[in-house]
Amino acid sequence: MSKNAESALAELFAAGKAAQAKAYAPYSRFKVGAALRTQSGAVYSGCNVENAAYPQGSCAEAGAIAAMALSGERRIAEILVIGDGDALCTPCGGCRQRIREFADPTTLVHIAGPEGVRAKFTLGELLPESFGPDHLVV
Ligand code: THU
Repeated sequence: MSKNAESALAELFAAGKAAQAKAYAPYSRFKVGAALRTQSGAVYSGCNVENAAYPQGSCAEAGAIAAMALSGERRIAEILVIGDGDALCTPCGGCRQRIREFADPTTLVHIAGPEGVRAKFTLGELLPESFGPDHLVV
């Protein structure tokens, strides 16, 4: 990995970890952070926010995407998700689709734990043959 890509990923990891610390997860006790970089180079982050009415909770990725949209940006260049535990904290199915709206099959999704980045996938690997905005152009 180039020095630039390495420090860009370190920045994403730091943003994701800081977001994870802010998570509101009193029910699952599973705190998640997400940080994404747009094509302009800006970084947006989010955390999961649970609710006593369980289905109303929202995922970390949804928060990061909302922050990006609010800034007026529309394209995800890369995204990182961080969670605790031994298993890889890969995005849930719904979040894969949320990311898909603003990314390409080649977009990298980095998965991290408390100690650092553990794995990377392309969005195409996580959500093959996906349905996207282009499908609505008939
Ligand atoms: N969670 C996320 O924030 N992102 C994911 O992609 C996986 C799951 C959250 C939702 C819920 O607050 C907690 O993790 C346990 O499922």
